[in-house]
Amino acid sequence: MTNRIKKTQVINAKPLVEHKISKEERDQLTETLLTAPATALANGEVVAFPTETVYGLGANINCPEAVDEIFSIKGRPNDNPLIVHVGTKEAIKPLVQSFPEVAEVLVEELMPGPLTLVLPRSDIVPDNVTAGLDTVGIRMPNHPVTRQLLILADVPVAAPSANLSGKPSPTLAEHVVHDLQGKVNFIVDGGPCQVGVESTVLDLSSGPPLILRPGGVTASSILRCLENHHIQFPQRDWQIRLLHSGSGYSVADHEVPKSPGMKYRHYAPDGIVKIIEGNDRSECITNILKFINESNIKDNFYGIFANQEFIDEVKARLPGETNLIQYSYGPVPDIRKATHELFAGLRFLDEHSAKWIFVETFPDQGIGTAYMNRLLKASGDTSNRTE
Ligand code: TXA
Ligand code: MG
Repeated sequence: MTNRIKKTQVINAKPLVEHKISKEERDQLTETLLTAPATALANGEVVAFPTETVYGLGANINCPEAVDEIFSIKGRPNDNPLIVHVGTKEAIKPLVQSFPEVAEVLVEELMPGPLTLVLPRSDIVPDNVTAGLDTVGIRMPNHPVTRQLLILADVPVAAPSANLSGKPSPTLAEHVVHDLQGKVNFIVDGGPCQVGVESTVLDLSSGPPLILRPGGVTASSILRCLENHHIQFPQRDWQIRLLHSGSGYSVADHEVPKSPGMKYRHYAPDGIVKIIEGNDRSECITNILKFINESNIKDNFYGIFANQEFIDEVKARLPGETNLIQYSYGPVPDIRKATHELFAGLRFLDEHSAKWIFVETFPDQGIGTAYMNRLLKASGDTSNRTE
């Protein structure tokens, strides 16, 4: 069944994201556009949809065949658990065995939003969703289309990012079409994802909160929330551990649950990602030139993902015959814009056959932690414990 070619229908739900339409128009449009994919989702079909982070590929958690189909469509190793998506806060509690105060605070303050909470799972969450773990990741996306879709489907939806396994996550419906055309019945197009990298995965299942994967919500905003609500943990320095978790900070193995995907290369284009290194801009450019000079310039296509100012400087100093394909995320350095465009840029450079892809770095702080994490993974680094 999985191998049969499907007639993929792309549903243009972008008008639902626009602010200008009236409530009546929106309700009418929601029904017209989202009833078919929501019904398909509830009835056991796999449906791709937008979220504020990246596009997801969803299945009703109560339909084991649909959940299995997600793994086969993506080519995803089945020891990598799926996040369960819900449309309302009320839908969270039945999925978990316990709901500590810290979860209550974070759900109240940061959901809907780019945050996934890992909690002990209840009996209604099947084994194939969590890859046999006794915890479940739960997320409530902050995207009008997704929330309506989830509310209409009225079932918890297991959903990984809607890319083929190992590839950069999709941030446009076109990316999903590229990867999954003929493999799913519905792709809901909600326009570009606002954040551009996935949710922050926060483990609350044992001890103080720890970030397993940095993402759209920063460690300091999580900490601020907890401190505002006077949440404390008996462990010394738990605040420092939270702030450093997710960026390769080493925590003793017994203190964190395994992050099953850590051993896989992720977010990776076909081209080889080279992180641009150097103490300042001039040294960065010198290093790029050195690399290009040492490789065979005539036969290679180089790609660069950076701000336009930087790209212009690189181009001015390159030997004339160099094939450089550029993707500029904006005129000057800007971590939010770079994060928003990173996956789209890597995909674009791949499509243009870049063999080596130079990518701008940012300080490992704030949203920069998520950006650098994805960059490291794309360059093949599997050493830190997030994926
Ligand atoms: O923003 C996102 O989170 C997107 C959108 C579609 O919601 N989803 C997403 O899913 O990125 P995926 O499957 O590509 O990544 C989920 C990550 C994986 O690293 C997985 O190992 C981890 O979350 N994860 C899921 N459940 C877990 C659990 N119970 N314990 C530990 N890690 C878990
Ligand atoms: Mg993914």
